Amino acid sequence: MFNQQKILLSGVKPTGRPHIGNYFGALKQFVDLQATYQTYIMIADYHALTTVQDPIVLRENIFNLAADYLAIGLEPARAVIFQQSAGPEHAELAWIFNCLTTMPYLARAHAYKDALAKNKEVNVGVFTYPLLMAADILLYDPAVVPVGLDQKQHVEIARDTAEKFNRLFGETFRLPEPLILDQVKTVVGLDGQKMSKSYRNTIPLFATERELKQLVMSIKTDSKGETEPKNPEGCNIFALHRLFSDKDLPELKRRYVKGEIGYRESKEILFNNLNTFLAPLRTKREEIVADRGRVLEILKHGGEKARARASAKMNEVRQKIGVKF
Ligand code: TRP
Repeated sequence: MFNQQKILLSGVKPTGRPHIGNYFGALKQFVDLQATYQTYIMIADYHALTTVQDPIVLRENIFNLAADYLAIGLEPARAVIFQQSAGPEHAELAWIFNCLTTMPYLARAHAYKDALAKNKEVNVGVFTYPLLMAADILLYDPAVVPVGLDQKQHVEIARDTAEKFNRLFGETFRLPEPLILDQVKTVVGLDGQKMSKSYRNTIPLFATERELKQLVMSIKTDSKGETEPKNPEGCNIFALHRLFSDKDLPELKRRYVKGEIGYRESKEILFNNLNTFLAPLRTKREEIVADRGRVLEILKHGGEKARARASAKMNEVRQKIGVKF
């Protein structure tokens, strides 16, 4: 059932601009691993529909995420880049999983509980979100699913769901493993909390130079003066230096401790290093976006490839559950 090279599958919801927390938490792994695994990278557009309900915005978000994927270095020759909606199989399998899963089990999911706690109006899509994600994953028999820490529970739900299906209908789905990089578990945002869109403390991966400067300058610090000794631990600027200022790190640390650097200068150094890192990605993205037709062609082709796999799996599933003669 499981052929040659191991499969990797992951995806992102097209709901806005990715930030450096998303990049180090998940996206970068897709690129690093595309040579090792048979790689499927999805644009989870049906998941986005739980929150984005404007066709113009959704279409633009999908296009933008495809451009982001290409700009960070996913290569269509190595990785299948595709929309979840390329075929009906993901939604179809999600329905089948709906029927095998109890309400109390799904009610324990973090994302659903958070939405409830915030007193949001929760649509049914938010509630069954983990089962659509389980379908996304299990249709492709991936060995690994690289995700940010926030998605770990969802991959566990996919495993549980695979086990339940296999128990009821016979061995069908491979149990996937989440792949979470330890050192990048959380990237700190501008205010010292975890970088997250919901905290409005993010640095977008494709921020313009101006925007980047302004964001870095707005990083929160304590009020220590230029010549006061500072503790690098617990400094929000320094936390980002750890990601972007590799070569300057020992010297920065020394100057912090001795009181030989002010926060303003520390921010300027960070801005320069960040910009050196992000500028090539930004330029590449501009080139990609300029050829809209090519991006759409890549999505179409990726959709066909993904669908070939998904529909073969669905044939097996329909047979196993007894709707197909
Ligand atoms: N839920 C993921 C997120 O919020 C996106 C996603 C949907 C996904 N389906 C997936 C990730 C399948 C990995 C595998 O970013």
